[in-house]
Amino acid sequence: MNTSLLHLHAPDHWINDPNGFLYYQGEYHLFYQYFPYAAAWGTMHWGHAVSRDLVHWEHKGIALFPTIREDQNGCFSGCAVEQEGDMVLFYTGVRYLTPNPRNIHVSLDGKMKSNQLTIRSADGFAFDNWAGKKVVIPAITDPAVGDVSDTRDPKVWKGKHGWYLLLGSTVNRQGRVLLYESKDLIHWEYRSQAGLEDSRYGWMWECPNYVEAPGGEVLLVSAMDFCPENQKPDSVVACFPVHFSEASGTMKISPQYQLLDYGRDLYAPQTTLDAQGLPVLVAWVRMPTPTEEGWIGMFSAPRRVQVREGHVSFSLHPNIRQACSCPISHPSQAFSAGYRVECTLKEGEWVNLGGFEIACRDGRICTDRTKVYPQQGVGPLLCQTPMLNRFEIEVLVEDHLVEVFVNDGEYTITNAVYGLHRDWSGNLSGTISFFTGKEE
Ligand code: FRU
Repeated sequence: MNTSLLHLHAPDHWINDPNGFLYYQGEYHLFYQYFPYAAAWGTMHWGHAVSRDLVHWEHKGIALFPTIREDQNGCFSGCAVEQEGDMVLFYTGVRYLTPNPRNIHVSLDGKMKSNQLTIRSADGFAFDNWAGKKVVIPAITDPAVGDVSDTRDPKVWKGKHGWYLLLGSTVNRQGRVLLYESKDLIHWEYRSQAGLEDSRYGWMWECPNYVEAPGGEVLLVSAMDFCPENQKPDSVVACFPVHFSEASGTMKISPQYQLLDYGRDLYAPQTTLDAQGLPVLVAWVRMPTPTEEGWIGMFSAPRRVQVREGHVSFSLHPNIRQACSCPISHPSQAFSAGYRVECTLKEGEWVNLGGFEIACRDGRICTDRTKVYPQQGVGPLLCQTPMLNRFEIEVLVEDHLVEVFVNDGEYTITNAVYGLHRDWSGNLSGTISFFTGKEE
């Protein structure tokens, strides 16, 4: 049995975005972008994993794979909802316009037709890839509405009066979301588009995700080449306060953004409602190189999404806390599934967890992974939060991932790591607890 604990990582080869995250018939289903032939991005399939508690994950093999002209070059990202007991998936099917004679798995020039498709299943496991796919939103033809190549990643949710769907797109080199409405999940009507008239917020918005969180409405977008505050353009996840109106079929976006995470490795997050009916998020952790075991790509631990006094927080999901609740006095006592540290730092104090350093400096929490990350890696080595009033940290430490939650998720720093060891130093006057590995 192929399983992962605490956070899901690629079973082998390559994974990127989480897809189709849904609590369905007593289990969490999490699909993902999967290339099953090499540790590199290529023709996308949907891999599938399930969990009863968001802690123990079991891989279930491939759920979706290309079979028809509309998805011949890949089943790109999408989502899942439940309707009349069925699981209904939505995804983007792509077909490259110019065949690549040297490598059929990647596009030569980025030109493709992107159709939005659906497929359903009566049990969440069996999908008829041969006869069950339907195009629900054909490729866009009007450039004022969206881009024919770059329109993708449907995210569907149920409102009071119907179903709603968001697509990520680009118009005039600015990120956009396109909003559609349906009564039956099959016939979709285009209602409006929303964006900010400013290319600093990225030229293309991928993986839009609308969340009605306790305390406020939030739109998450994975913005390509986002460059606010005169920084180098980078693809990051921005969270915007929004107001969605079913009556007018519009989404109003306000520019007071914050970042999903200050570690710069997270991308393409997706939310669903957990067993308690509260929004829970997972995101792809980008990695620069495959692990020694040959896999590349993993997901963050699940996080609860909440808006507190206008600020979006992402705190560690209580199921993970519960699973990591057995106290130990030294990380070497934790076995490979990982451990959790809670402590409060004062200005000038620091902890070193197996080569990963966390410090409280100049009113911020700062991290340094120089000793446990390849120098030629894609992500930054040094990260920091904005200015803070409190410095309570909770850290989830695993072989390839360190997740730092500051002030119960007010800010987070998530970093992929390589070669972390089992010693520590600095001020660690808090609690260390380890993962017992037992099912509840
Ligand atoms: C985001 C993304 C999506 C797309 C998928 C393809 O990482 O580019 O927009 O659907 O990955 O794998």
